[in-house]
Amino acid sequence: MKAKDPNKLEISIRGLKKAFESNRVLESIDMDIRQGEIVAIIGGSGCGKTVLLNHILGQLKPDDGQVLVANHETADAPLVDVAKVGERELSLIHTHWGVVFQKNALFSGSVMDNMALWLDEIKKLSEDEITPIATSALEAVGLPITDDFLSLGVSDLSGGMAKRLAVARAIAMNPNVIFYDEPTTGLDPTSGVQIQDLIVSTHSDKRTTVIITHDKDLLKRLKPRIIMLHGGYVYFDGTLDEFEKSNSEFIRPYFDLMVSLQQRETPVL
Ligand SMILES: Nc1ncnc2c1ncn2[C@@H]1O[C@H](COP(=O)(O)OP(=O)(O)OP(=O)(O)O)[C@@H](O)[C@H]1O
Ligand SMILES: [Mg+2]
Repeated sequence: MKAKDPNKLEISIRGLKKAFESNRVLESIDMDIRQGEIVAIIGGSGCGKTVLLNHILGQLKPDDGQVLVANHETADAPLVDVAKVGERELSLIHTHWGVVFQKNALFSGSVMDNMALWLDEIKKLSEDEITPIATSALEAVGLPITDDFLSLGVSDLSGGMAKRLAVARAIAMNPNVIFYDEPTTGLDPTSGVQIQDLIVSTHSDKRTTVIITHDKDLLKRLKPRIIMLHGGYVYFDGTLDEFEKSNSEFIRPYFDLMVSLQQRETPVL
């Protein structure tokens, strides 16, 4: 994979509108994310962050507006409209992405089943090709690669281990873009810090990283570009420094109340 051209767009959203019956979630969202950027999408619970991600992933169709994404199947990665490409083309686009879903979305079965499924079904790799990729991704996230662990059912994993497995599964795809939906929410502080470290170490100028988060420490570690959704619009788009210094009546209280893992008294698993 070549280093990303920072001027090239990875995701471009224009006038994205979405309502669920009378619940108008996204009024008109505009944003451009460039290749190699690290972007945090933040905002109050229920403001539409996951709905936005589901539009980028093509799992929801806009009521209005456009979601364009770079198609890394083609040289120069031209932008394509997610709502207009066919199912097959969308799955090919997805072969270049890794997604760590809010609820991990692990498949039932064993640790190895989870590591192998996308490599098999999406990348069409053979078992011999999958094994070294899966084990090196598991090692990268600090999980064991013993036969006992590989055959363990995912329902027997702790919250922190399940999250690490979800990250390992995503990075095993060697994605151009990696999306995390609240990667540290609900983890105890130690697991949370491990996941923060992982996000830092898996970002590079070859990869675009998009993180939906409520974790103030994560923002302080990553210093990402911050995009805050509020009232169905992009309310803030700028640096962490600008965000922290803002006196906006919506930003100030939101930032002050953002979860800080270090401040938690009791781990929530
Ligand atoms: N498939 C759906 N059908 C109906 N309503 C939905 C659907 N998906 C999301 N919503 C509604 O859209 C709104 C935004 O939800 P969303 O999950 O995007 O919030 P969020 O910003 O990700 O919040 P959180 O930080 O709690 O994860 C909520 O009111 C939710 O109930
Ligand atoms: Mg969400």
